[in-house]
Amino acid sequence: MTPDLRAQFPSLRLRPNHQRLAFLDTAASALKPQTVIDAHSAVLAGPYANIHRGLYHNSAATTAAYEAARAQLGAFFGLPAGAERSLIFTRNTTEAINLVAHSWAKIPAVAARLKQGSAIVISALEHHANIVPWQMLAAATGAEIRVIPLAADRQSLDLSNLESLFQGAAILALSQMSNVLGVRPPLEEIVPMAKQLGVTVVMDGSQAAVHGAINLPELAALGVDFWACTGHKLYGPTGVGVLWGRPELLEAMPPYQGGGDMIDEVKLPHGTTFAAPPARFEAGTPAIAEGIALGAAVQWMQGLGWGNIQAHEEAMAALLTNTLAELDFIEIYSPPHTGITAFNITSAHPADVATLLDQQGVAVRSGHHCAMPLMKCLDLPNGCLRASVGVYTCAEDLAQLREGLIKAKKLLG
Ligand code: ALA
Repeated sequence: MTPDLRAQFPSLRLRPNHQRLAFLDTAASALKPQTVIDAHSAVLAGPYANIHRGLYHNSAATTAAYEAARAQLGAFFGLPAGAERSLIFTRNTTEAINLVAHSWAKIPAVAARLKQGSAIVISALEHHANIVPWQMLAAATGAEIRVIPLAADRQSLDLSNLESLFQGAAILALSQMSNVLGVRPPLEEIVPMAKQLGVTVVMDGSQAAVHGAINLPELAALGVDFWACTGHKLYGPTGVGVLWGRPELLEAMPPYQGGGDMIDEVKLPHGTTFAAPPARFEAGTPAIAEGIALGAAVQWMQGLGWGNIQAHEEAMAALLTNTLAELDFIEIYSPPHTGITAFNITSAHPADVATLLDQQGVAVRSGHHCAMPLMKCLDLPNGCLRASVGVYTCAEDLAQLREGLIKAKKLLG
């Protein structure tokens, strides 16, 4: 990527603690390019109005822009024109997964199945967003939670007992790319087996969507039934994400929340009927400006081109691994070159290291990374540090990380 690209990100011009910013926390939330900031402001500046409600010009124009963003997202994720109706705007991945856990689980045939003796399968790699909603569903139904464990290398999943984990299970909820280790579970080995055994597959695409093209028809052919991602990691605004579901499943699902925009006809005292998807799952005024700006974000990514994004990120991921591997006081937990790398300074508390790095302008995440069970499997009671790359990451950022770690090590002893 060129210096021009970095110039598109106003946040990179800021000098936290009077230092050049080395932003290495894209996995938590990506910085925003000017195009996205402008698209967001343009909606608020007008013509602005609520959507799906007004017959007047500004409402119709804003509705058209919001639905155009849905179509842009559909195309970005490989859906044919028209199939974007199976994309639901949510607040984020967390809300998307909660939506599935609530609404899909209420389809009568599913509800009959989800009971004591049934199971929900997750993996040891999951983010809390793909654990807690399932634990809540398990508590409500009596289903048990089964976990695909970490392999002995502590960098991949142990697939040796997959078949027995899937026997009698109703759901597999799996991350497409770990937010801590950056590893990608081998979907071709896992998903078809789940499908064969009648397990519904829910995929958390939050991190994977940022680093490579997502083709939802291909994922569907593999056996994925629901797929979710969030907008703020895709260089878009916060407050908006996407859930894709197989149309026939969405059609069979009752609403998640009640309110305006999701109804067909409201009657008193009861007898209210509901709109078809996606409106059925989009109660209330949505994040209008954010949805439209997310459309602009994915168009901007398409403009960069996946080939260019991946070539750049692969180079930065390799440089990140090599930078850390050359420091003999660093323990690395991720496999090489994932672009999301978990590590620690041996015997130092990650919060202390992160604070010292911040004083030198280096932004990394520290702690449990919303993945406490994974921290336990890795035997990291204090958690770890995580550095992650994005389209704007450059060699100077990684040199600054290196210098920052050397200084932190000297100070911490
Ligand atoms: N899911 C985000 C992260 O991994 C917040 O940091």
